Amino acid sequence: MNILITGGAGYIGSHTIIELIKNNNSVVVVDNLSNSSPESLKRIEKITNSKIPFYEIDMRNKDGLNRVFAENKIDAVIHFAGLKSVGQSVLKPIEYYDNNIGSTLVLIEIMQKYDIKKLVFSSSATVYGTPSELPLSEKSQTGVGITNPYGQTKFMIEQILKDLSLSDDSLEITLLRYFNPVGAHDSGLIGEDPNGIPNNLLPYISQVAVGKLEKVSVYGNDYDTPDGTGVRDYIHVVDLAKGHVAAMNNIKPGVNVYNLGTGKGTSVLELIDAFSKACGKKIPYQIVNRRPGDIDSCYATAEKAAHELDWEAKKTIDEACIDSWRWQSDNPNGYAN
Ligand code: NAD
Ligand code: UFG
Repeated sequence: MNILITGGAGYIGSHTIIELIKNNNSVVVVDNLSNSSPESLKRIEKITNSKIPFYEIDMRNKDGLNRVFAENKIDAVIHFAGLKSVGQSVLKPIEYYDNNIGSTLVLIEIMQKYDIKKLVFSSSATVYGTPSELPLSEKSQTGVGITNPYGQTKFMIEQILKDLSLSDDSLEITLLRYFNPVGAHDSGLIGEDPNGIPNNLLPYISQVAVGKLEKVSVYGNDYDTPDGTGVRDYIHVVDLAKGHVAAMNNIKPGVNVYNLGTGKGTSVLELIDAFSKACGKKIPYQIVNRRPGDIDSCYATAEKAAHELDWEAKKTIDEACIDSWRWQSDNPNGYAN
């Protein structure tokens, strides 16, 4: 298939392109580079030994997006493009609603114009809000206790796509709810390259390890978890990327939802420990106050994806830390080297 990858220069998109190409697909990338570098695409070209057609376009630019569909025969779309910082979304809510929802509405309109039926959307475990049960299954309650506009955009886009599907039963839509993506490609050539000081735990730890930041602030050790620190389901980004290939290979009419996680929770201190082992030095940290909006634990059951997509996460936290460390130590300034 020839697949349009929106947001393809970003962290998850870049890893997914490699797995799609390995599985005999071709891709066309659209990205406005608001949170990424064109260097990631050059590195993908090196890894895959193929040319990646790229349009530097904002998804909300209808004429621009129309041109992409006019100039390429697109069979399906994977829609990664979006803003993703939880904290920034609280400060700039309208920017988040406009960017994430606006992009999706324009994409849908153009897909309809060109009669494209297949769409995979990057959703998030954030739609479960405050977990009503653990592990979280696709049937668990969504929409209650979402504490930020970023999470609301994911919840709303899921609803928009469900409504769209009810209006046209020939559409094939898959919603992938990612848990916490970590790690990097084992070539060390591509990985996560956050702007400024990272908000997420693993990129923060790796910048401490490489000496760019002093120590990790552990947000609370009084949670209801075995060691008191927050527990999350960290999934290697290459496993996540393979989940998209499986989703595309098994896409079917209607809206189908899958958790992409490992089914296993890891605490903040366990992740710091694993990274210390990977980089061969002790990662300094201090316990500080809880971060507002954080929950004790969040992890998936990914059994539905195992049964229906024949996919499961295979890589361990240790492998994710080794791969992140390779990426971080080979590229201390990310793609800006
Ligand atoms: P990322 O920021 O690395 O990639 C997103 C890409 O989209 C970036 O390259 C950015 O420049 C591009 N983009 C943003 N707005 C755009 C627009 N209007 N037009 C064109 N391009 C635009 O983020 P990521 O971690 O690769 O995440 C990909 C998707 O997965 C996002 O939708 C994100 O919300 C979702 N997701 C991420 C996580 C996570 O922890 N990384 C978890 C759950 C869901
Ligand atoms: N944490 C720290 N110190 C830090 C950063 C994080 O102790 O410097 C802790 C948090 O309190 C939490 C855990 O590490 O317990 C993970 O935090 P992240 O910020 O890495 O990830 P979150 O689970 O808060 O959120 C991430 C993404 C969201 C996504 C969500 C659900 O940022 O976009 O996973 O999949 F919605």
